[in-house]
Amino acid sequence: MRALADEEIAALGAQGWFSRPDFLGEALARQVRGAAEAVSLRRAGVRRAAALDEAVRTDSLAWIDRATTAEAFQAAMGCFERLMAELNERAWLGLRTFDLQLARYQPGGRYVRHRDAFPGDDNRRVTAIVYLNDGWRPADGGQLRLHLSTSVELEPRLDRLVVFLSAEVEHEVLPAQAERWALTAWYSAR
Ligand code: OGA
Ligand code: MN
Repeated sequence: MRALADEEIAALGAQGWFSRPDFLGEALARQVRGAAEAVSLRRAGVRRAAALDEAVRTDSLAWIDRATTAEAFQAAMGCFERLMAELNERAWLGLRTFDLQLARYQPGGRYVRHRDAFPGDDNRRVTAIVYLNDGWRPADGGQLRLHLSTSVELEPRLDRLVVFLSAEVEHEVLPAQAERWALTAWYSAR
């Protein structure tokens, strides 16, 4: 991971988000995508009762932790740790841990507008997403739309990183026309 730039820290403070085209490095991003094939995924549930609601989100998920022994995932976890350390040093965010989730949307998949946390909830402070889709084309859709004063759309291209404040930035995943993979860390102060 390249060190955070002053502009990235400033954007996170002023606009609540930043994005960069590279995070893991393309080679590692491809390895993670390859290792993802061997991970068994579960359908996402939206409510605590885990009722499946196709209208809200249609991805399949797995939590990635020390028990996911594939080297590529361990190396990726190291990058997310380094990002956490830099966010703490440079932006004083007081992050202590993160949960890491692998998600796959199949063609037609989407996730409606939402926030990852609510103000005052100390659980999730920062969301960081790296995309794993080599050869993504505009026609594949599946952009991450950030709802800010105007909206911003980011294509889920291989190795792109998006970082935003979990309680502030409303976002959605537009319908994807191709399989769409992402690895997301939610950093918390707990
Ligand atoms: C989420 C989410 C966005 C993305 O999982 O909460 O908003 O681009 N994902 O995959
Ligand atoms: Mn989200």
